[in-house]
Amino acid sequence: MGSGDEPPWPMPFIENLPVPFVPTRYESLDLVFEALGLGEGDVFADLGCGDGRVAIEAARRYPVRASICLEARSDLVERAMGNVREAGLEDRVLVVRGDFFKSPLRGVTAVYMYLLTSINEALKPKLSSELPRGARVATLDFTIPGWRPVRVLGDSGWQRRVYLYVIGVSDR
Ligand SMILES: C[S@@+](CC[C@H](N)C(=O)[O-])C[C@H]1O[C@@H](n2cnc3c(N)ncnc32)[C@H](O)[C@@H]1O
Repeated sequence: MGSGDEPPWPMPFIENLPVPFVPTRYESLDLVFEALGLGEGDVFADLGCGDGRVAIEAARRYPVRASICLEARSDLVERAMGNVREAGLEDRVLVVRGDFFKSPLRGVTAVYMYLLTSINEALKPKLSSELPRGARVATLDFTIPGWRPVRVLGDSGWQRRVYLYVIGVSDR
């Protein structure tokens, strides 16, 4: 999808997203991937993927079937696409411009979210209804309120704590 392409849905809030772009530090990624345990057959998605670094590293490090980078800001989509090309991973990393509240998640088995607690809360019904039972959801720093993490990794401090949730277990 190029920069001139229009998203297939209206995005009135595009200039005023409630979550700013703050990239996950590369040093924090080991913890994220330790939590998710990605493997063959997984379809990974980073909801609000920024410059694509997490989706790219997922595909570079693990034999996932596909790694989806879903981002609303067109400038970041462009950047992510450039980074995917540079990494030579166009065959397995898919960059999609879209609103994660409206984009379908069916088929995704592992999700990463570095968002805000309020956004995590708002995404709960979508995650529960569209992800398969057993799908893993890892969040950095911010919990999914009301859901029970099956694991909490790391320690306190900025970008040092990862919460792992499992659909069908954490959301009951
Ligand atoms: C804190 S950044 C995390 C970026 C990336 N996941 C990472 O860890 O490096 C949150 C990202 O979510 C994007 N975002 C915010 N609201 C969104 C929405 N409704 N749909 C898609 N992306 C959104 C922002 O543009 C931003 O790039």
